[in-house]
Parts: sequence; structure tokens; C-alpha cells
Amino acid sequence: MACIIKARYPSNIALVKYWGKYGNQLPCNPSVSMTLKEAYTDTELVLNEKTKKGAEFEYYFEGQLNAAFGNKVLSYLQKQEEFAPLLTDYAITLHSRNSFPHSAGIASSASAFAAIAAVGLEALGLDLEEEAFKQKSSDLARRGSGSACRSFYDGYAAWGVVEGLTGSSEKYAVPIEEVHPDFQSMRDAILIIDDAPKAVSSSVGHGLMKDHPYAESRFEQGRQHSAEMISILKSGDFQSFISVVEREALTLHAMMMTSEDYYLLVKPHTVFMIERLFEFRKETGLPVCFTLDAGPNLHILYPDSVRGEVEAFLEGYLQSHIKSIIKDEVGMGGKVI
Ligand code: PMV
Repeated sequence: MACIIKARYPSNIALVKYWGKYGNQLPCNPSVSMTLKEAYTDTELVLNEKTKKGAEFEYYFEGQLNAAFGNKVLSYLQKQEEFAPLLTDYAITLHSRNSFPHSAGIASSASAFAAIAAVGLEALGLDLEEEAFKQKSSDLARRGSGSACRSFYDGYAAWGVVEGLTGSSEKYAVPIEEVHPDFQSMRDAILIIDDAPKAVSSSVGHGLMKDHPYAESRFEQGRQHSAEMISILKSGDFQSFISVVEREALTLHAMMMTSEDYYLLVKPHTVFMIERLFEFRKETGLPVCFTLDAGPNLHILYPDSVRGEVEAFLEGYLQSHIKSIIKDEVGMGGKVI
């Protein structure tokens, strides 16, 4: 009889960015993220008796067999020795579904690999305690997609060794437990500026950091910003939050623009909206800022207390400069259902 394991794992948005890796998916600098609520991946793992020798594996995305991503997932599973018993003993089928539109600029590999690692670990039946399960699945997820390792914790998480954060590690993410109430109600309006597939993938981008002329100073900045972000989240200092988050977003894109094979992922409407946001913040004095993933779409961050004003401002640019807005907020880490 088939064994079925289901899980729901969210995406996350980095406040301090991971950009550049070494070894087996280890980060060149630590990063800090906020877990999202509405942007998640549902995954179902089906284990059946094997019918032939060799790996039997199929991956369905939104009901359709997806050989391209399936090959990537199979190669990931084959590289993790922990998953060897599953591939040896079972015919494996994975069904995945995202809550957000495809190519919405939300890091789908984060929620996808978090869910795959978790259902795989659950299938091994190791009987781990909750925290040990999170840590081990975070470690497994990291090896599929770095940012995925941060999707296991409620609220905020850090990945990489952060000065002053006990237990932090390059192998898995850890939760940030001391968070000021203002940051516990944080909202994220994701402005879809452009939903075309990215011209340059994140893995190529990470690779370009290897010979990047500014790599070392960027990694040092990432280390400092991560430590600063831990104390900002604790104190609730929104001015410092804005300063670190926006410098991180712009530095990420500056690294792309100044690599040997330089490229640009922001679009004219991205720049336009950043300038409007600066004006809006100056005029109103409201606590609101932006960040960017490796793409043109903006994440606008603000506490729930100013939601009405900020969302009315953003909605004024719908259609003329923004294709659509996905309203998200800080959420809980994923879990096996
Ligand atoms: O997890 P990857 O390999 O897709 O890299 C993600 C990198 C950024 O999203 C740009 C930053 C981050 O820390 O999530």
C-alpha cells in the first residue's frame, strides 16, 4: 500500500542577503530572513513498491508532470546520502503546488526545497524531536536551495554564523526568538513589476561572486549587517531596520551590476517605485521600506499599524507601474501535516 506524507512550507524574504556560496552550498556570509505566510508550497510525497531496478521518480507541479524540475530534484535526492534508503526501496512520486502565481518573483525554490527536504526526512521515520527535525530538515533543504533552510521557523531566522547569536551555523538556519512586537506584525506587499522568467539564474549569480572584485568587503558587510539585524529586531528600531534592509537590497543588485559578466535585473518601474517610496516616506514619516530578491519585483515592508496608508499609496500605482500586488505578512515556519 502507498505511503503518503504531506507538508506545507512557506517562502521567506531575506532582510540580509545570502549572495555567494562555497563548498556544498555553504554561504559566504550569514543572512537573516522573515518567513512569509501566504506564499507557500504544498507538497505530497507518495512512496510505492518498486517495480524495477534503479531510481523510480516522478515530479508533478500543479498536476503536470515536470521533467525539468523533476530531474533537478532527483539529482538533489541522489546526492544526499540520507535519502539513499528511500531511493533504493521505493518508487517515489512528488506532487507540488504553490499558493502564489508561477514567476511571481517569489523565491519558489525556497518553499519547494523546504517541503521536499521535510517530507523526505519524515519518510525516513527517524522519530526526531520537533527542534531536531527542524534543524535536520533545514540542513537537508539548504543543500537543495540555500534560502530554503530559513523556511522552518516562525517569524525570523538566521543562517550562517552570526556574531552574538548562539547556535548559529552555516549548515542550517536557527530561529531568532527575541523580536519586538512591531516586527511581529510586519507586512510584506509584493509588487509584481515584471513576471517574465529571469534572464540570469541565482546559481549563476552566486557563481559570479567567486571572482568578484568587491566580494570580500560584501561578505564582511553581510556579517556586520546580520549581527546588527539581530539587535534591531530585538529593539524595534525601525530607522535602523530601513537603513540595513535597503542597503542590503541595493548591494545585492550592485553586486550583479559590477560582476565580470555584469547584468541588471531591476526594471524602469522598479526604480520608479523605489523613488516614489522614498518621497512617500519623506512626506508621511511612516515606517516603510523596500527590499528586492534576485529579480525586479519589490517587497514593501511595514508594520500592521500603518497598513491602510501604505496600501492606499501602493494601489495608486496599480496598472500604471505595478502589474499586481500580493499582500503577505510575517508567518509561521512550515510543517509536515
Ligand atoms: O537560495 P538561492 O540559491 O535561490 O539564492 C537566493 C538568494 C537571494 O534570494 C537573492 C537572497 C537570499 O538570501 O534569499
